[in-house]
Amino acid sequence: MYSTPIVDADFEKVYEPAEDSFLLLDALEQEQAYLQKTFKNPLVVEIGSGSGVVTIFCHKYIIPNGLYITTDVNPHACKSSKATSIKNGGANYLDSIQSDLTTSIRNNQIDIMIFNPPYVPAEEVPEIPQTEDDYKWLDLALLGGPEGMDVTERLLNNFDSILSENGIAYILFCARNKPKEVTEKLKTKGWNSELVINRKAGWEDLSVYRFFRQ
Ligand SMILES: C[S@@+](CC[C@H](N)C(=O)[O-])C[C@H]1O[C@@H](n2cnc3c(N)ncnc32)[C@H](O)[C@@H]1O
Repeated sequence: MYSTPIVDADFEKVYEPAEDSFLLLDALEQEQAYLQKTFKNPLVVEIGSGSGVVTIFCHKYIIPNGLYITTDVNPHACKSSKATSIKNGGANYLDSIQSDLTTSIRNNQIDIMIFNPPYVPAEEVPEIPQTEDDYKWLDLALLGGPEGMDVTERLLNNFDSILSENGIAYILFCARNKPKEVTEKLKTKGWNSELVINRKAGWEDLSVYRFFRQ
């Protein structure tokens, strides 16, 4: 059992690691042998990296020889991901880009994609604040539209053009996102999936799925 990296973040502006983050760490730890066997020098992209806890954990313990890019719409999260990397010894190859999903990255390059999305059902996905000191950046970490799937859906619909030939994706869902229906739908588009881990955390029932081409 690896320890959780110490993060460098202002939790009034950046998502504080919580049960969902820790579930993702456990999922990656569980996948370590498979990942090390399958990928030599993969491009690993974490979308919505927040404090950077997941990426830094992955770099430190799971895939030390990967190239890493993190993206987040929240500029404070991008700075934190870099700062957390430095606090933990620094990664040789890690960049943080402020962008929507993977739109800043060339098509079909990503070998391993990781996303703990804003999955909480809410009336709508919040607007992106216009200034860095807006207090609403944190809302973007949680609120995912009526079924909590608005942001995740945009990603799932574009796996074909985002992931490399053997690319895979780890995505976290809560039960209200109806993950079984989501995985069935993805199957009709040529994407298989496997449940990596499931855990009840308080009132939430969280799962991480691995998606891969059929
Ligand atoms: C639930 S938090 C996860 C943070 C971190 N990965 C963790 O597990 O602790 C979701 C993150 O996604 C970011 N986010 C929300 N919408 C996004 C989008 N369209 N593109 C990139 N990042 C996004 C938020 O700013 C937030 O940092």
